[in-house]
Amino acid sequence: MWAEVLAFLDMFKAEPAVPYAKDYKTCIEEAKQRIGNAPIKEKLTDISAYDTVYIMSPIYWGTYAPEVETALEGLDFTGKTVRIICTHEGSGLSGMPSDVKKMCKGANVDTNGLAIKGSSAKESKDKVKAWIAQ
Ligand SMILES: Cc1cc2nc3c(=O)[nH]c(=O)nc-3n(C[C@H](O)[C@H](O)[C@H](O)COP(=O)(O)O)c2cc1C
Repeated sequence: MWAEVLAFLDMFKAEPAVPYAKDYKTCIEEAKQRIGNAPIKEKLTDISAYDTVYIMSPIYWGTYAPEVETALEGLDFTGKTVRIICTHEGSGLSGMPSDVKKMCKGANVDTNGLAIKGSSAKESKDKVKAWIAQ
């Protein structure tokens, strides 16, 4: 959904080095195992060209997907504005704002993020666009 709605933004996708299992139960367990150790295919090293960074993730185990943390590690967020969007199935943004704050040191993190129910993601394009424009 993000790529379609946010075509006007530069996008970086934190892709797991090893894809998750298709089976939901297995995937849930895999995600738990990957917390704190989630290798990704490619890492961003320089975000100096950007003033505002949007961090988007499904909520996994009460926060962003573990691959997002790997992607954020080592980046210099000093002076940047950071905004948060998630999809979830009931818990809203959960721990994502506080974890983003922890990872994006020196950033001005807008903790009024946008939480979209995964099941209504496809119908939420206008909502996302309106929130971006705020
Ligand atoms: C490993 C895993 C953990 C999840 N943990 C949560 C959670 O803690 N809270 C919640 O509301 N939804 C949770 N969900 C539901 C996802 O947030 C939801 O499936 C996702 O946002 C929809 O995006 P997707 O189509 O990319 O999966 C979890 C899903 C998975 C696979």
